[in-house]
Amino acid sequence: METKFLQNNMDDIKTAGEILKNGGLVGIPTETVYGLAANALNSEAVEKIFKAKGRPQDNPLIVHISDLSEIDDLVSYVPPVVYELADVFWPGPLTIILEKSDLIPSVVSGGLDTVAIRMPSHPVARQIIKAAGVPLAAPSANTSGMPSPTTVEHVMHDMDGKIDAVLDGGPCEFGVESTVITLCTRKPRLLRPGGITPEELEEILCDLEIDKAVLSELEDNEVAASPGMKYKHYSPKAEVFVVEGNSEDFAEYVNTISKEEKGIFALVFTEDESLVNCEKISFGKKEDNLAHASKLFAALREFDELGAKKVYVHSPEYDGVGLAVMNRLLRSAGHKIIKL
Ligand code: TXA
Ligand code: MG
Repeated sequence: METKFLQNNMDDIKTAGEILKNGGLVGIPTETVYGLAANALNSEAVEKIFKAKGRPQDNPLIVHISDLSEIDDLVSYVPPVVYELADVFWPGPLTIILEKSDLIPSVVSGGLDTVAIRMPSHPVARQIIKAAGVPLAAPSANTSGMPSPTTVEHVMHDMDGKIDAVLDGGPCEFGVESTVITLCTRKPRLLRPGGITPEELEEILCDLEIDKAVLSELEDNEVAASPGMKYKHYSPKAEVFVVEGNSEDFAEYVNTISKEEKGIFALVFTEDESLVNCEKISFGKKEDNLAHASKLFAALREFDELGAKKVYVHSPEYDGVGLAVMNRLLRSAGHKIIKL
């Protein structure tokens, strides 16, 4: 199949809407990462998403809406707190899990009786949903296991020839996926950290719990609250290690290894650049969590292009959006942390 390359203009947005309405797949920009969209109410269309990504069938998808009124038909009940959350965080990078209605096909919910709903803030994403006239199921538009795509080139790299079209909306603003919370547990629970921080959510959800899988590895016998958390994720071909320590210790550590081994790369802060001698990519100033988030996935993909065998990442802090960055990093590193 030839993948159509659509631009950010009203004609092409309309074309994307038509393709989706007719059961096709379109790579769409959002403020977090690019999504691989299909009509959420059409099982056959949604099945194609799993095929194109090579995604396990039990990993449910997020349903994207363009207006709050669209939620009523998709869930069995809207708890009042959803309106409070929507008021502050929608449109934006927050996904809310609720009990699903019969309208949601089980292929979307991965067989669960819940559904994840999000209203993206990227104007083009909402225009495409409106043009399609239906809610859109969309996981990140990467091959399963790869880092999520933050540019249209990343989407083409993974999906060219496998999907009907992709629409270029420029690079994504946040660069890590949305924050996922569930309101279907006894207390509201954070399943995946993202652009909206736990501190921000606690302003409304004062009893928010953080799921154990956010920062630690699940044991073999533990059930993942979010099926996506049990799979290997965000992994480039290179082996990734997270290294905790100050700039001097980090630099000495990677400089020593790179003298002995080939293919050693580092993901560093601006402050480390002059100290680290091996090949490196910088993901921003040490304190700048938002820069780390927006550059992380592109950097992981670039290491593969450069032929990296091992990548040592200078560990960011866990606060604010840093929690989302650490969550992705720990998964891409298979939880290998080196403490200096
Ligand atoms: O920012 C984002 O959320 C992007 C853009 C495209 O919107 N989408 C995205 O989708 O990251 P995906 O499929 O890559 O990640 C969705 C995560 C998965 O970990 C999945 O297991 C979880 O949300 N999830 C979806 N529905 C769920 C449900 N009903 N219960 C528990 N977890 C669910
Ligand atoms: Mg994903």
